[in-house]
Amino acid sequence: MARYLIGMTGASGSAYGVDFVRRCPGEKFLVMSDWARKVLHDETGLKPSDLESSVKKVFADSDLAAPFSSGSNRYDALVVIPCSVSTLAKIAAGIADTLITRAAQVAMKERMRVILCVRETPLSTLALRNALELSREGVVIMPIAPPWYRQPKTLDELVTGFTDKVLGLLGEDAGAGWREAELE
Ligand SMILES: Cc1cc2nc3c(=O)[nH]c(=O)nc-3n(C[C@H](O)[C@H](O)[C@H](O)COP(=O)(O)O)c2cc1C
Repeated sequence: MARYLIGMTGASGSAYGVDFVRRCPGEKFLVMSDWARKVLHDETGLKPSDLESSVKKVFADSDLAAPFSSGSNRYDALVVIPCSVSTLAKIAAGIADTLITRAAQVAMKERMRVILCVRETPLSTLALRNALELSREGVVIMPIAPPWYRQPKTLDELVTGFTDKVLGLLGEDAGAGWREAELE
């Protein structure tokens, strides 16, 4: 069974994080920044405790002594969804003063997978430069940009259109691809 560390930060788009936390299979651990908790409540009305049943364990972002602060506890991918440009900048600068940013540094040094679902618009030159630096390190920069080619009818479908793309990157079941029926 795959093991995933999921980070949620204070960017807009908590719904994407919630959907990913709920639908991603495998053994899941969740870390939410303080601002993620605030934005989650503002945007969805949910409390962090509402996500607890979907994961094996929740760690505090301030807990730098948590197991994933060390490279000796391996996993298949760190997915930060949504990822603020502040967290993007910290990771690019090598800052590791929260569990999410520390886990990102550890994942990069240990050559484990990192996917950052960045949400900000427009993007400053600085944010673009940070994204480029990290992309060169092998980090997947995945701006939250839901596809419309599935012709979503509801907000839920719009959200899952994007989270399915993240699941696909991880090799998990991500539903039918675009015009996949034509491959038959
Ligand atoms: C309602 C709300 C929406 C926000 N949306 C974004 C956003 O879309 N992208 C972003 O980078 N920061 C956004 N921010 C700002 C971040 O929350 C802020 O920079 C915070 O310090 C990020 O810290 P974190 O990355 O540790 O969660 C938003 C803040 C609030 C209160």
